Amino acid sequence: MARQVATNVTWHEGSVTRSEREKALDQKGATLWMTGLSGSGKSTIAVALEQVLIQRGKGAYRLDGDNVRHGLNKNLGFSAEDRTENIRRIGEVAKLFTDAGILTITSFISPYRADRDTVRALHAEAELPFLEVYVDAPLDVAESRDPKGLYKKARAGEIKGFTGIDDPFEAPESAEIHLRTDQLSVAESVQTMLDALESRGLLGG
Ligand code: ADX
Repeated sequence: MARQVATNVTWHEGSVTRSEREKALDQKGATLWMTGLSGSGKSTIAVALEQVLIQRGKGAYRLDGDNVRHGLNKNLGFSAEDRTENIRRIGEVAKLFTDAGILTITSFISPYRADRDTVRALHAEAELPFLEVYVDAPLDVAESRDPKGLYKKARAGEIKGFTGIDDPFEAPESAEIHLRTDQLSVAESVQTMLDALESRGLLGG
């Protein structure tokens, strides 16, 4: 848990209520938190889902592990501490986007259950919808896809601490959505996520 370092800081409440914001935007925010091995399909599905939501006139935005590591989190590596800090920051950013009324799609390996649970709790505390999406492909399938050639490097010992090879992935135990991407097409995964949003009243009219 990150410690509060700054002192003499005071929360300044706004005057716009959540329902006023939702009415103005004609939509509700939600965080769709995708977790899974590298090569499981997180980014591909996130891109496709974002496209469909935007086409439907919804405000949607993608936060992607590799992308965020080029900017906000460029000072973080892949040690356990850095992965935790990566997820803590993105959890806070996702919460802000969702509070702003955006359908926020995150695609980070987020390998540690405790870190994902912390993000879940952060959303629960703020009464913001949080859906954990387990993007599940068996390691041998993810490894055979190897879109960035990283499993090959990890097996050759050129990358240390690679998730699934010599670093753990703690699979979700009760994700709201479970996508077996070795069995579903990208379109089917996207549809499953749309259905989950719809059934929770998060797609509106
Ligand atoms: S996380 O573990 O902190 O959630 P994140 O999703 O941000 O990871 O970044 C994972 C991406 O970084 C992978 O898709 C891969 O392209 C790249 N990467 C580089 N080194 C590693 C590593 N040691 N383990 C996992 N992914 C790595």
